[in-house]
Amino acid sequence: MSKSKTKPKKVKDFEPNILVFCCNWCSYAGADLAGVSRFQYPPNIRVIRVMCSGRVDPSFILKAIKDGADGVLISGCHIGDCHYISGNEYTRDRFEKMHKIIIKQLGINEKRVRLEWVSASEGKRFAEVITEFTNQIKELGPLKN
Ligand code: FES
Repeated sequence: MSKSKTKPKKVKDFEPNILVFCCNWCSYAGADLAGVSRFQYPPNIRVIRVMCSGRVDPSFILKAIKDGADGVLISGCHIGDCHYISGNEYTRDRFEKMHKIIIKQLGINEKRVRLEWVSASEGKRFAEVITEFTNQIKELGPLKN
């Protein structure tokens, strides 16, 4: 039996794949502002724009993890600012349940899936959240699926 020619990636060289769900009205605009303002953040993220954070079904997160994401961030308007009134409150409640029920039962470190509120005027905060989350996922290492 031949050994695999590809060496396992060293953790220090690890560049995580991070999927970020941003609501259209606040967080996506915040991400855009971060870019326009030239705030630096790691290039490890792929952003998916959804109309509201409430649109992010838990199955989206599980699929992202199954398909190779090392971390998933859901970002929406601050509580009280959702453009669909209470979509983000729904997200917050569902997220807590999902963490308790799904993420723990699958043995996934709960730090790999995070919820953050970022407004359209918080480009700097968006860059800081992405930087901090990317560093955290790097510390955790690759997620083996
Ligand atoms: Fe942003 Fe609902 S529109 S969280």
